[in-house]
Amino acid sequence: MKVGILTGGGDCPGLNAVIRAVVRRAHQRAHDVVGVREGWRGLVEGRFQPLGPREVTGLLPRGGTILGTSRTNPYKTDAVDAVLRNFQEEGLGALVAIGGEDTLGVAARLHAEHDFPVVGVPKTIDNDLSATDYTFGFDTAVFICVEAIDRLHTTAESHNRVMVVEVMGRHTGWIAVMSGIAGGADMVLIPEHPISIEEACADLRRRHERGKDFSIVVVSEGYELDGADPEAGELDEFGHVRLSERGVGARLAQEIEERTGYETRVTVLGHVQRGGSPTPRDRVLATRYGLKAGDLVHEGRFGRMAALHGDAIVDVSLAEATAELKTVPQDWYDVARAFFG
Ligand code: F6P
Repeated sequence: MKVGILTGGGDCPGLNAVIRAVVRRAHQRAHDVVGVREGWRGLVEGRFQPLGPREVTGLLPRGGTILGTSRTNPYKTDAVDAVLRNFQEEGLGALVAIGGEDTLGVAARLHAEHDFPVVGVPKTIDNDLSATDYTFGFDTAVFICVEAIDRLHTTAESHNRVMVVEVMGRHTGWIAVMSGIAGGADMVLIPEHPISIEEACADLRRRHERGKDFSIVVVSEGYELDGADPEAGELDEFGHVRLSERGVGARLAQEIEERTGYETRVTVLGHVQRGGSPTPRDRVLATRYGLKAGDLVHEGRFGRMAALHGDAIVDVSLAEATAELKTVPQDWYDVARAFFG
């Protein structure tokens, strides 16, 4: 069988490690693999690239995706027929779609509506996909944020400043909570468990009254500042508001300085969180997901997604995985909160 593979949505470290594992497993099972260029756009436009064992040599530590990616959604551009036609004309028998909620949402729908032979692999630095404990890319993003927080600690301490660190995560606060816990943040603000600016400032004042004269505040880009319009901003191709454009970190820093009188600076980590080489944990997870996806294809178990449950790689339905966002539960937030104030 000829198996297609695509990477869709925002890139993240570990995509190439999955591609490598899928190709290696497919070859062990006597299947050929072809790369689909730039996510669903490649199937809409019929753009493919050869992908054999030679092409995946050296890919394990490499960030980004050698296939390119996009947020093209064939359901939004009336291009589902083109996807089905190009898939057939290329002689493909199966597709491995590596993506987050949006890319896999398209896969789930194609499978449900057209019996499309697709399996999914859960990717996103946001870690917001249901039905899996972790997505690959998340660990690397957290690692990068923690390194930044550690560095900001020393300069914050030297200048007696409040440092606001804005991290990604879209509508969930996984990156903020995990990097806040690991980086020893004094305040973490996330969309799921909103604390008002006044409460946050009260905690900072309390901390400073007990002798600390600097603080680290981690804020998720999706945190809603009092009075801000959550729907305001430009949309991306999947129809999401571009949260980075709202500048929550900068506005929060200004509010903190005005309300407390503490000198405050902001650092927006941005796309640095998605760049570079995956951590060992993400390399291992991506590799295990890739092998599982190869097995699912070989066994003809379509409409499924590789997932992590505890320490085991299992498979779940794509429909289940994309039904709702996985948000940060209270008990995780409480771990971060134990160190506020
Ligand atoms: O979903 C991954 C993510 O990095 C989000 O955390 C962020 O909101 C978004 O993508 C940024 O998208 P873009 O790369 O289009 O700016």
